[in-house]
Amino acid sequence: MTMNFTFQNQTRIVFGEGEIAQLATLVPNDATVMLLFGGGSIHKNGVYAAVTKALGERKVVAFGGVEPNPDYATILAAAKLARDQNVTFILGVGGGSVIDAAKFLAAVVVMDEADPWDALLAKTAVPRPLANGAVLTLPATGSESNPVSVISNSKRGLKLPFAIEAARPQFAILDPTTMASLPRRQLQNGVVDAMTHVLEQYLTLPVNAPVQYGFSETLLEVLISWGPVLFETDEARQAEARENIMWVANLALNGLIGSGVAQDWSTHMIGHALTALYGIDHAKSLTLVMPHLLRRCLVDKQTMLARFGRRVWHLEGDEKEVAHGAILRTEAFFQDMECPIQFSDLPEISLDVEAVIRHLEEAGQLPLGEDGKIDAALVRIILNDASK
Ligand code: NZQ
Ligand code: ZN
Repeated sequence: MTMNFTFQNQTRIVFGEGEIAQLATLVPNDATVMLLFGGGSIHKNGVYAAVTKALGERKVVAFGGVEPNPDYATILAAAKLARDQNVTFILGVGGGSVIDAAKFLAAVVVMDEADPWDALLAKTAVPRPLANGAVLTLPATGSESNPVSVISNSKRGLKLPFAIEAARPQFAILDPTTMASLPRRQLQNGVVDAMTHVLEQYLTLPVNAPVQYGFSETLLEVLISWGPVLFETDEARQAEARENIMWVANLALNGLIGSGVAQDWSTHMIGHALTALYGIDHAKSLTLVMPHLLRRCLVDKQTMLARFGRRVWHLEGDEKEVAHGAILRTEAFFQDMECPIQFSDLPEISLDVEAVIRHLEEAGQLPLGEDGKIDAALVRIILNDASK
């Protein structure tokens, strides 16, 4: 096993109720702060007030309107304002979209090009990004302590991941009480997204990594047992569930469980294409694909699927039976979280499989899968299965 990863030595995690106040010491006193946020939820739930209170006398340049699945054009507009106002620190306050945008903005703002998309993709001569930090209000993506920004480019019709290690947030504040204002749909999406993050680092060709696999199984158990508790009416239980889900979603994609193991991000790449084409919520783009992909990749994934079935779903039987059972249970969990598993669940969408293939080709992502076996032909089969 070889490993090369950064485990939170760049992102300081500050977790707990009231911890937004820590911004007072985490952000440099002399900083000019761009406060990046989304469509306004932080104005309604008191997070904006808590953030500006903690920032005290520092100069704050607010930029709102970052959309879900953040668009490149919005980030370029934020970069222009940040340069005009001599911003020295970017603070993303919101869900994965805002935090992805904040990290990307930190990289864009220091670049001379008017259109740095290609340079950031190619990672050629990218200068050191501006310092940035995150205040998370929606647990799902793990964006708050990883180096990835998933950015949509509506002009080019693309949604692509950019991994910019130096843009990893310096700190991430995770206050689970900020989740109280989240709509049911976003909570469900978050649980499902985090679950797929674990699965895409776990259901791959097995290697000698019992630590990572055992850790992944714990994360999966927590998501499966505590996810539904978010919707219970008992307030004390709900508060515990918020803490557990916010923590588990962070750990699902901070680099640890993916180190030293094969990773297969094919569900995510196909899902990004579906969101670019049809605007489907990120989590729902994944649940439409994953069960069908797992069935079609059973030969390579059977060993880990069976381990998943036995250890997490507590299924019994021979390897093939348990592997199938694990897919069925996962599918049922996605449905419990009110996420679609077939395109017939979303009748308003008329799927163009070839457009998805074109997105993957243009993104340079084919073939997919941990061993490069998921080519265009197999993606067609998987999407046709999802359309039955
Ligand atoms: O924009 P506002 O008004 O804040 O409302 C948001 C948005 O409408 C709302 N929301 C967030 N926190 C809230 C809240 N509403 C009430 N109370 C709160 N506390 O939720 C809506 C969705 O927010 P968004 O940030 O879009 O959701 P999520 O966190 O699921 O992020 C999705 C984005 O992250 C990318 C996805 O592709 C998608 O673009 N991903 C990023 C990853 C990464 N950086 O590693 C990995 C993921 O796989 C994913 O691809
Ligand atoms: Zn995801």
